[in-house]
Amino acid sequence: MIGKHKEFGVVYTPQWVVDLILDNTVQGHDPAMKICDPSCGDGAFLARLVERVCDALPARDCRRALENITGFDIDAGALEECSRRLDAALAAAGKRFRIKWNLHCMDSTSRASLARYEGRFDCVIGNPPYVRIQHLGEARRKRMQKDWVLANHGSADLYIAFFEIGMFLLKRGGRLGYITPNTYAKTMAGRSLRRFMLEQHGIACLIDFGEHQIFDGATTYSLITVLHKNSKRGKFALYRYDGKRIVNKGLVSVSSLPAEKLWTLESEKTLRKIARIMSRGRPLGEIADIHVGIQTLADDVFILEKKSEESGVVVARDMHGRDVRIESAVTRPILKASLMKDGKDAKERIIIFPYVGSRLIAEACFREQFPMAYRYMARHKALLLGRDKGKFAPGRWYSFGREFGLTETFGEKLITSGMNKRPNFQKCTAPEYTFYSGYCVKPKAGIDLDALLPVLNSDEMDFYIRHTSRDYQNGWKSYAKSFIQDYGVPADIAARVRHSQGVMWG
Ligand SMILES: C[S@@+](CC[C@H](N)C(=O)[O-])C[C@H]1O[C@@H](n2cnc3c(N)ncnc32)[C@H](O)[C@@H]1O
Repeated sequence: MIGKHKEFGVVYTPQWVVDLILDNTVQGHDPAMKICDPSCGDGAFLARLVERVCDALPARDCRRALENITGFDIDAGALEECSRRLDAALAAAGKRFRIKWNLHCMDSTSRASLARYEGRFDCVIGNPPYVRIQHLGEARRKRMQKDWVLANHGSADLYIAFFEIGMFLLKRGGRLGYITPNTYAKTMAGRSLRRFMLEQHGIACLIDFGEHQIFDGATTYSLITVLHKNSKRGKFALYRYDGKRIVNKGLVSVSSLPAEKLWTLESEKTLRKIARIMSRGRPLGEIADIHVGIQTLADDVFILEKKSEESGVVVARDMHGRDVRIESAVTRPILKASLMKDGKDAKERIIIFPYVGSRLIAEACFREQFPMAYRYMARHKALLLGRDKGKFAPGRWYSFGREFGLTETFGEKLITSGMNKRPNFQKCTAPEYTFYSGYCVKPKAGIDLDALLPVLNSDEMDFYIRHTSRDYQNGWKSYAKSFIQDYGVPADIAARVRHSQGVMWG
């Protein structure tokens, strides 16, 4: 089952979520209504549909309605289970007739297989698979990219293509209701799907689950999306799950959902308050440079707890608690943004920094000039080469995993962890320190950190992030650059900032 979970993106949907989608998509039980779940699995949606149809319709209409239900899945075993489940639902409803269910084992991402169903359905519902397209075999990936515009993105996911597939199956004016990850609304990778929805199809309803988890055994931040094919709408209905119930946030203007930017799913009243914050003064990203911290992809190797330093040699503790000696000149002091309090890190740490400015020191020079550091790194060579799923460039085995911020993370700055429950920007006035596990804000036009710090740690920043940023479990919010850069810094503070000296360290 583990294999199937990964390859087919198998996560089954709880019944109350199925009901929410059916309530907002199927609406009424016209026996002529044709309904399809293109990734029906063991039939969570279809079995519930059978129960609801049997409840709502008299025998003759009921039979016709049931014959109009269709399911596809790539997994023959799941379809057998689905068939049994539909029979059981029919029997439990006291129906004496049998139905030959329209269940088809096929790859719903194949346009050729789907061709005969094009434009056939009034409703498409479901919980499509969540699998990164780059994890499919090359032949399948290429075929999908030929078949579906929305699969043509490096980091596209199968669930994104399933929106296009659903629309292909629907008649004009048909309705689609899916539960999927919210990443299409909250990441730049979702831009093409956002554009597809806004330009071609009406967004009728969004139900946001925020940080709340609804699937057993899978961490996913979920969103229900209901679309009406080829029908543009001015407003959509917004709901939010608060952990206990679905809260109605009212009708919201579709113009608050830009294709090019991440979506803020909030009531019109909250959106107005957010707009006031964003439009005042100047955006943080304009008055300050915001940089991500050092990313080694092997922090346990590169970053060590410092014990002492003498005669140009640092004694530090390695990941196994053993002492290692490293030449001081190839190290830099480093702060862990996520553990900072009162401007200090919980520990004194160093990072092995095999760079001059942003240039990697050649391996022969590294070995010759810093033999202790080189020997230590060489002991971890296999682990370092295993980064990026083993695709790490062999000649650069001792480099950082990502080479961002090699010079920019030094200097005076405000530092924030990448995730916080409340704003927690910390001032770092020691320019020789770099940092990791977060972001820094360096005012462009001066180093008036003291004026900026309370603005970034304010209740307004808390409000702004709470409503615009990505959710994580237990109330954590993302403070990544993409979420903090549009925060409006009040004009009086923005104006106090002086011109930067442009000092670079590293
Ligand atoms: C997230 S599960 C949802 C199953 C079911 N709809 C539910 O909600 O409980 C995704 C389903 O997609 C199916 N699937 C994965 N790739 C598929 C493909 N290319 N064509 C059709 N079904 C596929 C899996 O077998 C799995 O049953």
